[in-house]
Amino acid sequence: MQESIHRGLVGVVADVTEISFIDGEKGELSYRGYDISELTEASYEEVVYLLWNGELPTARQLIDFREEIAPLGALPFEIVDRLRCARPTTEPMHLLRTAVSNLACHDPNPDDVDIENVRRIGHRLLVQFPTIVATMERLRHGKLPVDPDPELSIAGNFLYTLTGEYPTEAATHVMDVALVLHAEHGSNASTFTARTAASSLTDAYSAVTAGVGSLKGPLHGGANEAVMRALEEIGDVENVEPYIMDRLEQPHGRVMGFGHRVYRVLDPRAAILAKVAEKLAKESGESHFWEMSVEMVRVMDREMEKRGREVKPNVDFYSASVYRMLGFPIDMYTPIFAVARISGWMAHLFEQYADNRLVRPLLAYEGPKGKKFAPIASR
Ligand code: CMC
Repeated sequence: MQESIHRGLVGVVADVTEISFIDGEKGELSYRGYDISELTEASYEEVVYLLWNGELPTARQLIDFREEIAPLGALPFEIVDRLRCARPTTEPMHLLRTAVSNLACHDPNPDDVDIENVRRIGHRLLVQFPTIVATMERLRHGKLPVDPDPELSIAGNFLYTLTGEYPTEAATHVMDVALVLHAEHGSNASTFTARTAASSLTDAYSAVTAGVGSLKGPLHGGANEAVMRALEEIGDVENVEPYIMDRLEQPHGRVMGFGHRVYRVLDPRAAILAKVAEKLAKESGESHFWEMSVEMVRVMDREMEKRGREVKPNVDFYSASVYRMLGFPIDMYTPIFAVARISGWMAHLFEQYADNRLVRPLLAYEGPKGKKFAPIASR
């Protein structure tokens, strides 16, 4: 029988979900029925509550949720020690993936995939992710880790534990927006990876660790770092055009931060982050990266139209500039993506474990058949 082959699982609907909806033709994204543009007015905690419970919290429910997660952000000292012992040149995504995997060893009940236990793990990981990322950044610069302040929000605490200084309301708001926009995005590679791992009924830590590994790739979450490295390489607005033309001349040449599997029009998250990046650029007087970004979009629009391709900037294109203007080092961009996406991964794990079926697709075999085995001495 000839199976139909869908390389990259393009167009394959693997299961049902109630968590988020993407209309790639119209450029729309909603979490649990709420349009993403409206959710940027909410705090990240409200959005996590929505993703995990199906509805936005009341004021009382939000207070309870915040009180529940506030004490969970500190890391076991062994994890901090391991981060401290890492070579200072270790890529932060390797450290994050290893630390998350390690957290299972400090959890008295890591393996139970009963929904209540997985939710308990989700609450911890939600606030431990930002602490891991902030701690690894401080340690590699020889600074002492800063304990999260239970009075601060997740966005505020991330900035506080990273810098050791209480953040401004404006910076906390930008961080909240970035976290909300990166929280969830359907069956993207890392979420599908996490769901696939969970479908064998392995533990939530293993599934999340797999998700972190997948997010790291430059075609997925790693793209934000690649975008900033490209902008640095380009260096000036006048170099944008030759840079892009050189890329496009190469077979399957890619300009990072452009294109998407699902969107045929502008990624709605990119549309929102573009406005944030422009505002930050104007306020800071550092419009250099913004001007290069505008020029990149202009040249890509023209070239993709000529080629009959619908390739627009994606979320990573603008998050790179936003993170730059917030002062984050480049190799922290993808870990920061993970700080947000842990909420989406967990929402999907709740869904997967609650109604599981093993994910086990086929591959069409094209290798040789019927070969005869020869003992090693006669080969
Ligand atoms: N630069 C130039 N041309 C592109 C790009 C790009 N970034 N993306 C797509 N195209 C064109 C190109 O003509 C390609 O045909 P060919 O392979 O023959 O050159 C055609 O569009 C189809 O692209 P595709 O790679 O087959 O599309 P895909 O759905 O398999 O891949 C993608 C989607 C995101 C991997 C791809 O667009 C890409 O590599 N983009 C750059 C990396 C990136 O920015 N990733 C972040 C994605 S969004 C957020 C996230 O998930 O983290």
